[in-house]
Amino acid sequence: MPSHLTVIRDLDDMYHQRARWKREGLVVALVPTMGNLHEGHFSLVKLARKKADRVVVSIFVNPLQFARGEDFEHYPRTLKQDIQALTLLGVDLVFAPEATQVYPEQIDMANEAARATTIVPPAFLTNMLCGANRLGHFTGVTTIVGKLFHLVAPDIAVFGQKDYQQVAIIRQMIYDLNWSIKLITAPTSRTEDGLALSSRNQYLTIEQRVIAPRIYRTLLTLAERLRDGDRQYEKLSRQMTTTFKTIGFDEVDYVEIRHPNTLMPSLETDRCWVLLVAVRLGKTRLIDNIVVEAAFLS
Ligand code: PAF
Repeated sequence: MPSHLTVIRDLDDMYHQRARWKREGLVVALVPTMGNLHEGHFSLVKLARKKADRVVVSIFVNPLQFARGEDFEHYPRTLKQDIQALTLLGVDLVFAPEATQVYPEQIDMANEAARATTIVPPAFLTNMLCGANRLGHFTGVTTIVGKLFHLVAPDIAVFGQKDYQQVAIIRQMIYDLNWSIKLITAPTSRTEDGLALSSRNQYLTIEQRVIAPRIYRTLLTLAERLRDGDRQYEKLSRQMTTTFKTIGFDEVDYVEIRHPNTLMPSLETDRCWVLLVAVRLGKTRLIDNIVVEAAFLS
């Protein structure tokens, strides 16, 4: 097994490493993460490994993307185990920068007097779905991802489909800010019973863990209804919301049927949809989505 993994914490060291790779003409892929890595992250890393000469995994629990009252303090930090796992996967570099270097000025998304520059994604992509429930979240995401793109200067960046809206916003940011970075989206990894892998799954109690896989099953039921020709999107969303509540979810932030490219509400003539869900079990918020195509009629 390769054991050449380097860990960089200092921003200057990252610049120098990237410059060396650039001089050698190597293709670099970045997999941004907040650590506490699981099979879902590993699938992103394996994809990156296939596409690039050098793979960088960034590990940084980004305070800026947690709203007040969210789980920033408790978010699991497992750097040592993460590095061990990434060594076995043949990752070249773990970039785990110090928060004081990434954010030398205090930035608080809830405080408008914050004295630092942020990257604010366009409202048409952020004022809905997760953005509507997590104010400032996507500005936190684009700001850190922008910083990582700047620091690592990757040719390729790999993100997971599970965070569908995040991927759409980062794609828009890459386009709007003229980055020449190829964005690759990796399919969602699931447990055998269908639950989308997430670091937050470990917050679930045994009872909640039994309920959680019903998210995916309910999405599949909704997909069937669309394939059967049902186009009453609002009614379908309402029905699925009721289903989630009946099954035992404590809150349903949204069940939405959207256009997979624009994330706009679907039209009756659409033949492809992304079905997006955010629900809560106790304090744990879980998201999932699937992309569905209409059955081919011959
Ligand atoms: O998807 C995540 O884990 C985070 O939002 C990301 C992209 C690493 C930015 O902190």
